[in-house]
Amino acid sequence: MRLILPLAAVALIAAAPPSRPLAVTLSDAEGLLPERYGVSADAANANCLACHSAAMITAQPRLSRVQWGETIAKMRNVYGAPIDPSDDKAILDWLVAD
Ligand code: HEC
Repeated sequence: MRLILPLAAVALIAAAPPSRPLAVTLSDAEGLLPERYGVSADAANANCLACHSAAMITAQPRLSRVQWGETIAKMRNVYGAPIDPSDDKAILDWLVAD
């Protein structure tokens, strides 16, 4: 038993995957919103991730287009988000894509 435990520890360490290069870790953690059903998330990525994570948006219950429009207005008017009004349509298209 005295010998087996250290051997098991060595085996675990040996089996651990090599540490990944920093660049890969960063791109994994980028946390961008994904394209949905062919609808680009570019406008949402550009306008919605400055202040909070993508998860803040994807964790929401399903909302209607009108409700999401109200959320965008709240981000803009209450929290001062500099969302270009010409991006609203593309952001909404992505938010309600399903
Ligand atoms: C200027 C900063 C800022 C930007 C840009 C921003 N938000 Fe927010 N957002 C906030 C803050 C602050 C909160 C409140 C956070 C909290 O309650 O912890 C919030 C909360 C939310 C919530 C949680 C529900 C709610 O109504 O509070 C959602 C959903 C959301 N934002 C969506 C968006 C979307 C979609 C965009 C892009 C169109 C966006 N946000 C851009 C600042 C921002």
